[in-house]
Amino acid sequence: MITIISGTNRKGSVTYNMALFYQKKLEEKGVQSTILDLKELPHDFAFSALYENTGKSETFNRLISPIKDSEKLIVITPEYNGSFPGIIKTFLDGLEFPNTVKGKKVALVGLSSGSQGAVLATSHLSDIFGYLGAAILPLRARMPFIEKHFDGEKIVNDNEYAKYNDLIDLQIENLIAF
Ligand SMILES: Cc1cc2nc3c(=O)[nH]c(=O)nc-3n(C[C@H](O)[C@H](O)[C@H](O)COP(=O)(O)O)c2cc1C
Repeated sequence: MITIISGTNRKGSVTYNMALFYQKKLEEKGVQSTILDLKELPHDFAFSALYENTGKSETFNRLISPIKDSEKLIVITPEYNGSFPGIIKTFLDGLEFPNTVKGKKVALVGLSSGSQGAVLATSHLSDIFGYLGAAILPLRARMPFIEKHFDGEKIVNDNEYAKYNDLIDLQIENLIAF
């Protein structure tokens, strides 16, 4: 089982649609997955599920339970202000240290409206997941100008500079073999 983390709590996010797209691709390859959507976080989790409350919030525990059953994670992050959304860091700060992601194999996916494709966001996440003891899949999927290439359900406008379908297939194949 693979857990796909949709890395924003923004309503109507492209990131969530991309998580669904990855799930569909995995299904086509016969791999089961579940989506952990940060939109589902309890609204007060920064105060009710962190620090002295780590492990005590039932809603938070239920949400993160797929991670425990997964050997592999796909973390999809949009680029917000040159990095990943703050909600991801707060979420990670609520996980039990060091065991929740230790030893997991993690594929990173970055989306942006602009030209960077969340390159810094995925680098920052790579540092953090590495620190937490996860193994990072070398192939990151960086997808700049996402709105021009993904209509919410499928990849559009693939061309010689942006072969997102091939990139996603290759990344998933690499993760399955990882
Ligand atoms: C708070 C915020 C900050 C953003 N900052 C950037 C940015 O620094 N660079 C960029 O290219 N796009 C930026 N965007 C656009 C997102 O990267 C873009 O919409 C992304 O592809 C998908 O985000 P979504 O999952 O929230 O829809 C920002 C969007 C939001 C909501």
